[in-house]
Formats: sequence, structure tokens, C-alpha cells
Amino acid sequence: MREVKIVATGSYVPEKILTNDKLSEVIDTNDEWIKSRTGISKRRVSINENTSDIATKAAMDAIYKSDIKVEDLDLIIVGTATPDCYTPSTACIVQKNIGAVNATCFDISAACSGFIYAVNIACEFIKTGSAKKALVIGAEVLSKILDWNDRGTCVLFGDGAGAAILSSSDKSGIMAIYTGSDGSGENLLKCNAASLGINNNSLSIMLNKDKYEENNFLTMEGREIFKFAVRIIEESIKKLLEMSKLNMDDIDYIIPHQANLRIIDFVSRKLNIDKNKFFVNLQDYGNTSAASIPIALNEMSRKGLLKKGDRILMVGFGGGLTWGGAIVKW
Ligand code: UT7
Repeated sequence: MREVKIVATGSYVPEKILTNDKLSEVIDTNDEWIKSRTGISKRRVSINENTSDIATKAAMDAIYKSDIKVEDLDLIIVGTATPDCYTPSTACIVQKNIGAVNATCFDISAACSGFIYAVNIACEFIKTGSAKKALVIGAEVLSKILDWNDRGTCVLFGDGAGAAILSSSDKSGIMAIYTGSDGSGENLLKCNAASLGINNNSLSIMLNKDKYEENNFLTMEGREIFKFAVRIIEESIKKLLEMSKLNMDDIDYIIPHQANLRIIDFVSRKLNIDKNKFFVNLQDYGNTSAASIPIALNEMSRKGLLKKGDRILMVGFGGGLTWGGAIVKW
């Protein structure tokens, strides 16, 4: 069996910044509530780029930083809950955009756990020899499926994309990885058939309630998801440490799915883990679902926070219900 390592990361977020104060001008909310309940100050929203556009930019960022030619990529997987359309896959559109003509391409649907799921699948392809170099992307334009009149959800999310290139290696980079699901929680975080085209972006029509079809946007049982999140992050951390035969002292950083600072604080207290071990950037981007972990990983790399040999534990959770995590040696 071959081993797998991450050779490059990339990310892209849309230019438009939507602050809590700006949101407060159009819905009944305020900066104090959002910050104290979630830690979020602002988020990025896409005005005219769809998921494949931002996924392509994140992919190119990763490719530029690697010594890999696009023709060498033999697998592209996009984790997304907000594809451009029902078919073709966002991964196929990215393939066309970057010219990765030798890649097999598909999307996977695992909501906020999408990146970890996609990395897990890519690892299996590489370990079995079915692929040598894989591009894994988490990308979301959540603004197009949010109900901008629902203050309980729209303040939480943001748009963005993150990417990683995985390659076979002699030494292990990905030390442990696992995923899990529980479909009995299907209704806790759900989106029925919302329109996926960027021109229908509900943000741009948020004041025109006539255009809303109530059941076509993302809905969430916030408190239930909160309880699930803290339970499953704890479970995932313990499982990953057991799988890799490491303990928390061996871990340099934890990159949790960037959903809510209170969830992270809760886990840090419960497991008695130094808060500084958790990388947090949700204050700037909100919850970008499948993109949150790769955006964070790339930001850490860009800021020079990661040294060779550092061990990073990533853990995600989301709709489905789904969850998963990985320990990566940098
Ligand atoms: O990727 C996974 C995605 N999801 C998550 O991780 C979400 C997990 N859950 C959460 O983060 C929290 O449950 C929320 C941040 C969503 C909500 O926080 P909460 O402390 O559970 O608040 P709540 O829903 O119980 O609402 C408390 C109050 C309510 O008012 P009343 O009934 O007490 O008068 C809400 O109407 O806060 C009100 N409220 C707001 N007020 C101002 C809800 N949203 C807002 C808002 N601005 N945006």
C-alpha cells in the first residue's frame, strides 16, 4: 500500500465582504448578537461567481504552489452542498477550466464534512494505485441557498473555496483518517431543491419577499446541531488519536470545521485542550461548509504557521448528519 501526503494547498474567497453591521441594516439582527453567539464578524458573499468559478481559483492557487502539471492530475473530487447544477458535476467543470484532461472527476455530497470525505476517497484511490495525484476541493456558494430573511441561518454562513493536492509518497503524510454518517438526523440541516444558478442569488433579491419559495432554502435546527457538533468533535478527536496511536501532546494544531466559536470553546474546555491549539478564522469568513477546513489549512500555511513535521488534526461535521477527521503530518 502506498502512503499519501498533501503537497500543496490553495484557497479563494469572493471579494465582497458582508459585515454584521451591514446585515443588521436589512434584517433584524445585530453585531453584538452574532459575535457573542457565534464569533463571526463578517463573511464573503459571491455576487457573480458560481461554485465552479471559486473552486477553480482555489485549485489554481494550489497548482501554482506545487510542481505538478495539470496533466498529471488523475483525480478531481469536489466536496460541495452547492454545486453549479445537478449535472454535470462541479469537478468536471473545474477539470475543463484548468485543463486537467487526464483526471476522473466527480462531486461528493457530505455538507460541511465534504472536504474530509473527499480527502478520504482520494487517499483510497492513491493507496490502491488507482490514482497518483489528486486535486481535492471544498467549495461553496452558500449565499444562493440561504434564506436572507431567516436571521437564524443567514448570519452564520459564507462563500469560499479551499483546495489540496494529494500525492502518493514513501512516507506517510496522512496518518489517520475516518468518516461517519447518521441519516436519522437528515432533517436537522437540510436544503430541498433550491435554484443553483448564481443569477438567482437570493442575496441580491433579499428585500423582495415575493420571489421567495419558503421551503427551497437551507433550514437548520441550530440547537440540535450544536449538541451533535460538540459530541461528535470529541468522539472524532479521541478516535483519531487512537487510530494514530498519538496523544494530544503530539498534536500541534487542531483545525475544526469553522462553524461557531462557542462549539470550539466548549470542546476545548471539555477535553482540556489548550485553546491556542485550535486554529480559528471563522470571524472573517463565517461557516463556509465544505470549504472551511481547506481555507483554514491554506491560511495557516500562507501565514507560515506550519513547520515540517507538525501534526495537524482536522475535524469536520455537518448535515446528513456527517462527520470525519484526519491527522496530517506536514
Ligand atoms: O456546519 C454546521 C452548521 N451549523 C452549526 O454549527 C450551528 C450550530 N448551532 C449554533 O451555532 C447556534 O444554535 C446558533 C448560533 C444557530 C443559535 O444560537 P442559540 O444560542 O442556540 O440561539 P437560539 O436559536 O436559541 O435563539 C435565541 C434567541 C431567539 O430569540 P428568543 O426566542 O429568545 O426571543 C432567536 O429568535 O436569539 C434570537 N435570534 C437572533 N437574534 C438576533 C436568532 N438568530 C438571531 C440573530 N440576531 N441573527
